[in-house]
Amino acid sequence: MRWLLIFLGWFVDWARGTYWYLVGKRSSLCKTTQSSSGPQDVSQATKDAVLRQEFSRDAIQANLDVIVIGSGLGGLTAAALLAKLGKRVLVLEQMDQAGGLCQSFKEKGFDFDMAFHGLGQVHENSLLKVTFDQITDGQLKFAELEPHVDTVVIGKGQEAKKYTIYSGKRNMEAHLKKQFPNDAKAVEELFKITKICTEKIHMLCMLKVFPLWFARVILATGIVDLISPIFKYARSSTADVLRSLTANKDLQTVFCRFFYGCSPKNASCVINAVLFHHFKRGAFYPKGGASEIPYHIIKFIQRHGGQVMVRAPVSDILVEKGAACGVTVTRGDSEVTINAPVVISNAGVFNTFQKLLPPEIQTQPEILECLQHLKLSRGFFQVFAGFNGTQEELGITSTNFRLFKNNDIDAMADEYFNSSQEAAPDNIPMIYISFPSAKDPNAKDRFPGQTCMVIHTIVKYEWFEQWKDLPAADQKAYEDYKMRFANNIFDWACEHFPKLREKVAVLHAVSPINMHGLGAPRGAMLSADHDLERDQPLNIAKTRSSTPIKNLYLSGQDVFSNGYAGAVHGGIICASTVLGHVLYIDLMLHKRKLKEKASKKLD
Ligand SMILES: Cc1cc2nc3c(=O)[nH]c(=O)nc-3n(C[C@H](O)[C@H](O)[C@H](O)COP(=O)(O)OP(=O)(O)OC[C@H]3O[C@@H](n4cnc5c(N)ncnc54)[C@H](O)[C@@H]3O)c2cc1C
Ligand SMILES: *[C@@H]1O[C@H](CO)[C@@H](O)[C@H](O)[C@H]1NC(C)=O
Ligand SMILES: *[C@@H]1O[C@H](CO)[C@@H](O)[C@H](O)[C@H]1NC(C)=O
Ligand SMILES: *[C@@H]1O[C@H](CO)[C@@H](O)[C@H](O)[C@H]1NC(C)=O
Repeated sequence: MRWLLIFLGWFVDWARGTYWYLVGKRSSLCKTTQSSSGPQDVSQATKDAVLRQEFSRDAIQANLDVIVIGSGLGGLTAAALLAKLGKRVLVLEQMDQAGGLCQSFKEKGFDFDMAFHGLGQVHENSLLKVTFDQITDGQLKFAELEPHVDTVVIGKGQEAKKYTIYSGKRNMEAHLKKQFPNDAKAVEELFKITKICTEKIHMLCMLKVFPLWFARVILATGIVDLISPIFKYARSSTADVLRSLTANKDLQTVFCRFFYGCSPKNASCVINAVLFHHFKRGAFYPKGGASEIPYHIIKFIQRHGGQVMVRAPVSDILVEKGAACGVTVTRGDSEVTINAPVVISNAGVFNTFQKLLPPEIQTQPEILECLQHLKLSRGFFQVFAGFNGTQEELGITSTNFRLFKNNDIDAMADEYFNSSQEAAPDNIPMIYISFPSAKDPNAKDRFPGQTCMVIHTIVKYEWFEQWKDLPAADQKAYEDYKMRFANNIFDWACEHFPKLREKVAVLHAVSPINMHGLGAPRGAMLSADHDLERDQPLNIAKTRSSTPIKNLYLSGQDVFSNGYAGAVHGGIICASTVLGHVLYIDLMLHKRKLKEKASKKLD
């Protein structure tokens, strides 16, 4: 029986590969050679000219092929791929700067990334790196960070225990085993699972590409389970899988250290496994800051005849005879209608289906069914701190810190999210600390003598909701409440970085009611929550780029997973669906070619 299964798995992989290779039609995506590297450090004005092109009805080119709503990484990726393949694209962004969660902003002279802390899997000739090179003409440069990626601290004060995470194809596992000598077997098993979940993730992606009836059949009959255990891991909660491997709560916490608001007992094992694996081949940061990403992708889109306009809030998606045919941009009193045969929304499923579609369509059963298994993710609370002092003076490095009050994330989260509004700020169970200026090799030149720290935690929107419309009279109460969170978070961070306190020049806090103006419903910047229900295989199959509305497609983090890598994959899946051609074929073949070339060079 075992051999039969191995054969089946091998056969399916082989058949797919051969099919792709022999009959898979190629597009011209990876055909052109890339231009050599342009100037690295451009002025803010040069960047702004690209990132802040204001909406103008008269400037819109005629005969658009595609309109993209929202300029997050997912929307830009889809737009760039389609532009390169000859489509006339227009990206419309409601904010005054393009880039979505890849934006940077200034606060009292300090430059902060809105959300970017690091990206994995962009080592040379990885699929993600190949994709970035394709959509930026190889202009986007990543700096590899120190191998000491993360420090996890469990507990406070004298009792606190520290674990360190190092990147490295083999070293990550070896280093963890050293710290958990009694659980070496469990660590090994965990790495096996993360490897399966990462390497076989395309099997989950394929569910979104197959016709839904076919996906239903192979899932219902259990055929998929004969092919790979990844389907089982998708169905299982992270907590259950961990419990079956080890009783060591510290190890469990280290495994779940990427806390994004969904507790291990409510999250699919696949998502935690993929996150855990993400930095195995190194952590990376774009040289020049996060906004380099949209800057280079937009330049690429423009070079291929596309346009990206800001201050262009889309208020409606136009639907005629059941098919999307354009959008309305509403600015103040003026409404501009723009038509195109394809509309892509990167504004998230909830905005798309509950706000932008015509009201009578929002309530149609097919639309309701798309949202049935999805719920909003939790909000983030962010603290942006700026210091007068160099990295060396302050004793910081590119290592992230993840502090947990204790080693039971499930119980901590239950208690915390059950807190009253009054008690919540004193009950924060975890914080994440990152030092962007230590990650960017250009930061020393760009901002001499300055250092930045960003800290975040997860919060409940309801704690802040009463101030969402912020009448001036209530502003003080809101500020006070917000600063209770901010100060507690900052104090906790200072326990580990005592030199920071006296050098602090800026302490800026952002709560779910003012999430940088990104338009996320109820502060849910990650859009749909990554809970167990979302990641049930049938629900993975159901959440796809195509929608019940003809010619309306989704891109970005809701299509596959959140994270910058997730948003890029959302963009690739979206462009593939629009074109009716699986662009992964071209990217994979190109990647293989580059790998062969690299190994020849080595010989
Ligand atoms: C605090 C925080 C930290 C994070 N850190 C990391 C990290 O270190 N590494 C990592 O991999 N991931 C991280 N993530 C996750 C990652 O940022 C996201 O998953 C990813 O950026 C989502 O990209 P997107 O394109 O789907 O959406 P977004 O970037 O959110 O883009 C959506 C865009 O649509 C626009 N929009 C919305 N409505 C309209 C409208 N009606 N008209 C026009 N435009 C509209 C918005 O203004 C926005 O620009 C983090 C997320 C958060 C919140
Ligand atoms: C989380 O999981 C627990 C037990 O596994 C379940 O009782 C609870 O309803 C879940 N909560 C959510 C929000 O899904
Ligand atoms: C939540 O809070 C209520 C009231 O404060 C309490 O009765 C209940 O036991 C708490 N539940 C959890 C899971 O902590
Ligand atoms: C930090 O430096 C700026 C500019 O040099 C100065 O205005 C500010 O007062 C300084 N703040 C602190 C806390 O040293």
